[in-house]
Amino acid sequence: GTTESSSYANVDRYCVDHPNNNIPNHIAALVGRGLHTKEDHPIGIIRSKIQDYFIAQDSEYKIFDGEDPIVTTTQCFDDLRINPDHPGRSPSDTYYITDETLLRTHTSAHQSMHLRDGYEKFLCAGDVYRRDEIDSSHYPAFHQLEGVKLFPSADVDGAKGLSKEEWLASPECKMIADDLKETLEGLMDHLFGPVEKKWSDDFFPFTEPSFECEILYEGEWLEVLGCGVIHSEVLEMADRGDRRGWAFGLGLERLAMILFKIPDIRLFWSDDTRFSKQFSAGKITTFKPYSKYPPVFKDIAFWLPEDFVENDFFEMARGIAGDLVERMELTDTFTNPKTNKTSKCYRITYRSMDRSLTDDEINVLQNDLRVQSETLGLEVR
Ligand code: PHE
Repeated sequence: GTTESSSYANVDRYCVDHPNNNIPNHIAALVGRGLHTKEDHPIGIIRSKIQDYFIAQDSEYKIFDGEDPIVTTTQCFDDLRINPDHPGRSPSDTYYITDETLLRTHTSAHQSMHLRDGYEKFLCAGDVYRRDEIDSSHYPAFHQLEGVKLFPSADVDGAKGLSKEEWLASPECKMIADDLKETLEGLMDHLFGPVEKKWSDDFFPFTEPSFECEILYEGEWLEVLGCGVIHSEVLEMADRGDRRGWAFGLGLERLAMILFKIPDIRLFWSDDTRFSKQFSAGKITTFKPYSKYPPVFKDIAFWLPEDFVENDFFEMARGIAGDLVERMELTDTFTNPKTNKTSKCYRITYRSMDRSLTDDEINVLQNDLRVQSETLGLEVR
C-alpha cells in the first residue's frame, strides 16, 4: 500500500458511494490541508503577499480563503459558460463526488456566487483538483488565487446597448482591459521585483477578451496567469448584467516554485521539518534542497484497451506508491500493423524526498501496479 500519505479522515465525505464518484482515498486525504492558510508555508506566504498588494491598492477588496472545495457543476462550469461537452468537465480530468458535485477545478467556481451576493472587488484563494499527468510540476491538488473587480456603472454606461462587436471595440472595454493589465503588471513587480512582461491573447469561456501573461525570469519566459474582461453573459447570469469588470486566476505553486526555487511540487505537501522549517511568514527565501536521494526507474509496457484513459493509469500508480512516484513518462508507442493493437511503454521514476529507496521495495510496488493495471483492461507485456 501507500507509504507516504497522511490520514484518510475525509474519505467518508468525498469517496461516497455513487456511480460517478472517482475520488480515490489518496486524493480525499489532501482535501482540507489548507496549505494556503498557513502563514509560514510557501503557498500561504505567496497568498498573503498577493493579498497585501491588492489591499494596498484598494482596501475594499474582500478576501475569501475558506470556501468549501466541493462545488456544483453549475458553479464550476455552467455559470462560467463552460459547455457540457468541454473536455475540462470530463471524469478523465475532474474529480466527481456525484454527477452534480465535484472538487473544484479552479477558483473561478466561486466568481458567480460572490458577484450574485453583491461583492464587487474580491480575492479568493483555495485548493483546486485536476486529474493530470505526473511530473515535478504537476500534482492532482494545487492552489489558485482568483481576483475580480467590477467598475462603477458610470464608468461603463457609455457602452450600454452596444452589440458584442461594438462592445469589444469600445473605449470602455479597453479601459477595463488596460486596468487589468496594469494591475497585474504591478503585482508581478511586487512579487518578482521589476520584471519584463509579455501579454498574449488567450481564450476562456468566461472572459472576453482573454489574455495570458508571461514574465521573463532568469532568461526564461514563464506563463504565470490567465485573465480577461468578464463575459457579459456571466454577469447577466449572476444578476449583474448592468455592470462590467475583470477577473484573473493564477497558480500559487507555479509562483512559489519560481520564487522560492522549490524543485518539486510534491514538497509542498511534505511534513518533513527539513522542508517546513525553512520558511517563515512574510519572507521569500531560497529553498536549500536537502540531499537528493537517488531515483529508481521502472518500465512498464502494455497493450491498450479501446477506451484507455491515461489519467486512470497515472492515478493508479499514485494510489499504490503515493508520492514516491516522481514522474511518469511515455517512452514508446507501437501499433502492430497486423492486429492494429497499440502498445505503450511508460518509464516511472520513483524517488523519495527524505530517504533512499531499495530496489526490493520498489519491485513490490511496481508488481502491484502490473497486477492492478489489468483491472483497467491493460494487457501487461
Ligand atoms: N480559471 C482559469 C484557469 O484555471 C484562470 C482564469 C481566471 C482565467 C479568471 C480568466 C479569468 O485556468
